[in-house]
Amino acid sequence: MSPGNPQHDSTSPSASSPAQTPPWYQTAVFYQLHVRSFFDANGDGTGDFAGLTQKLDYLQWLGVTALWLQPFCVSPLRDDGYDIADYRRISPAYGSLDDFAAFVEAAHQRGLRVVTELVINHTSDQHPWFQTARSSPRGSPERDFYVWSDTPDRYPAARIIFHDYEKSNWAWDPVANAYFWHRFFAHQPDLNFDNPLVQDAVIDTLDYWLKLGVDGLRLDAIPYLYEREGTICENLPETHAFLKKLRKHVDDRFPDRMLLAEANQWPTESVQYFGAGDECHAAFHFPVMPRLYMAVHNGDRRPIFDILSQTPQIPRSCQWLMFLRNHDELTLEMVTPEERELMYRAYAFDSAARINLGIRRRLAPLMGNYRPKLELMHGLLCSLPGSPVLYYGDEIGMGDNLALPDRHGVRTPMQWSAEANGGFSTAPSERLYSPMIVAEAYHYERVNVAAQRDDPDSFLRWVKALIALRRELPALAVGEYEHVEVDNPKIFAFLRTSAEQTVLVALNLSDETLANQKLVVPISSARCYDVWEEQELALNPERLITLTLQPYQFKWLLLERPAA
Ligand code: GLC
Repeated sequence: MSPGNPQHDSTSPSASSPAQTPPWYQTAVFYQLHVRSFFDANGDGTGDFAGLTQKLDYLQWLGVTALWLQPFCVSPLRDDGYDIADYRRISPAYGSLDDFAAFVEAAHQRGLRVVTELVINHTSDQHPWFQTARSSPRGSPERDFYVWSDTPDRYPAARIIFHDYEKSNWAWDPVANAYFWHRFFAHQPDLNFDNPLVQDAVIDTLDYWLKLGVDGLRLDAIPYLYEREGTICENLPETHAFLKKLRKHVDDRFPDRMLLAEANQWPTESVQYFGAGDECHAAFHFPVMPRLYMAVHNGDRRPIFDILSQTPQIPRSCQWLMFLRNHDELTLEMVTPEERELMYRAYAFDSAARINLGIRRRLAPLMGNYRPKLELMHGLLCSLPGSPVLYYGDEIGMGDNLALPDRHGVRTPMQWSAEANGGFSTAPSERLYSPMIVAEAYHYERVNVAAQRDDPDSFLRWVKALIALRRELPALAVGEYEHVEVDNPKIFAFLRTSAEQTVLVALNLSDETLANQKLVVPISSARCYDVWEEQELALNPERLITLTLQPYQFKWLLLERPAA
């Protein structure tokens, strides 16, 4: 999307008229959680579906409209459930399929959409498909569920993603007497999408969950489905052909559902996951994310402005998903080496905070637990062109635990109250799936939902107000993006314009008070209304606004368009 260009391509074949009701994922506010971490109803130390169902009132109160649940199927849990051993059975620790169905029904009753995951690039090595494959004859369809080789030197151009843990994308299997291909951990063999039986099995899995009423599926690690010699084995045409097939299957049978691409790629590659509106409905905008942190650190809009300028238009029916943090490291794959150094120096001076190509910290510690910065980051999240995704616990400013291995330090139990185990579980604390956060500034006795819910000045109440306000401003959800030039690079300003309204967003990315900043409103407007301050702003005939922004402050200004 070039600066003056709209976000959506109105000539795309699937373009709908702006007057139509937008698809739900374009107006949604997403909330990401792991059922294990949310609330433990049976007191065994692990969160479960019964617990999550009990907490739906909280999520509805917060104002989010869609829940993204991380994998909860049977798994040896060596990659937090992204190592699936059975695509249809729920891990007994989280409850039964009936508990899941009751949860989906209760969520739908409250108007909350449910998004789960389709982890299809790989399985756990415990999956029966792999157990069968390794002992099946070479060349048999069972064996060919996975990718085998006699030598570990095929596809040498494919990068190693978990490079702190793995030295090769090949691992030796003594039972098969061959090497198998894995893009992630060596206990996660990649499925072989050249085998039509694999494609059929994946589509059966998709049917299974969509028939259970799931509204959307996050397609985990989707760029890596195929391997081809002489390529980096990412974003291959074969992958896009398979996604078109998957999408058609969904369109023919399951209206109103969403396929969401987890494609950690540069914008020009990421947009390919939308196809011409015939692949994924939505995709995370990975490269924007670290640039929000850079911009706030530098007090300069250019990193965000530049990446948005490099982002091509997307089909009208599609949507970016924006996020600040998630369950993984804050990935620094889609930045230059210089930018990565800057990010490490700024946000992970302690090498314990670094992992693979990223930073394993939560939002509040990254922002020095400084409220104006936390508000600004959420302001960006809710203003940029895309649907916001909140990571559980960030709405109360939860901390992290660098003493835990891998990415577990950002996956600790939700802090509900000052009671034992933060009200998460009645189990003895040593039986919790993970220790609670007890570091002073983030201790569950201090940082928890109960305390903040009752305090009108709390961060939680502020986040709730932010979500409510955003939901009242459809332009922030579906509006086109247009950059607004301001002399001062500390200010990032842009318009979001939908069929019914225009919102002017102005953010101060710096720690300075910026007084009397001049901004020319690029459309003719009869009135300018500050929705946060609930006051009218003077607008002179030259369409000039004079703004004073406090450190890290942002404004949403509703511009009333003159009657046609
Ligand atoms: C995705 C998940 C991550 C997982 C990886 C391998 O990137 O987000 O948590 O480790 O896939 O399954």
